[in-house]
Amino acid sequence: MTTEIASEPQVETPIWKIEWSEALSVGITDIDEDHKRFARLVNELNRSIVDRAQLPEIRHRLQMIIDDAVQHFAHEERLFKEWQYPDSQSHAAIHAQIIKKLQAIMSSNVSTCLNAPWIEAGLQIKTVLIEHILKEDVKYTKSYLNHRGPLPIN
Ligand SMILES: [Fe+2]
Ligand SMILES: [Fe+2]
Repeated sequence: MTTEIASEPQVETPIWKIEWSEALSVGITDIDEDHKRFARLVNELNRSIVDRAQLPEIRHRLQMIIDDAVQHFAHEERLFKEWQYPDSQSHAAIHAQIIKKLQAIMSSNVSTCLNAPWIEAGLQIKTVLIEHILKEDVKYTKSYLNHRGPLPIN
């Protein structure tokens, strides 16, 4: 049995490539760095799918995204305590839902050699992560700024 992604019409454009832009910035360097790493991992998964990489490689890249998400969410949740972010509990609950969703995507695609479901999976991952940054992560910037206080004037 081959583990190569089955031959289907070649997708020329990586339709869910994440282009980093200031619109995705939450205004906190450490967090932006985490999010950029996230975007890089998602783009690498996309590249593997478009290049019809071997199935173990695709699964490995998806697992790397899940591991990275777990690590990043824990990072944010540690900072919430420091910043006394009032919505930390509901935000952490959303993190837990996202991890479940990523794991569900992994299990539903784990052995498929078809390209289309993986493209769809990649699109879902991208959407979930980008929406989370834009809808939820941006909300904690205020708590960070309150915690940090004004920058000293040189
Ligand atoms: Fe985040
Ligand atoms: Fe978050």
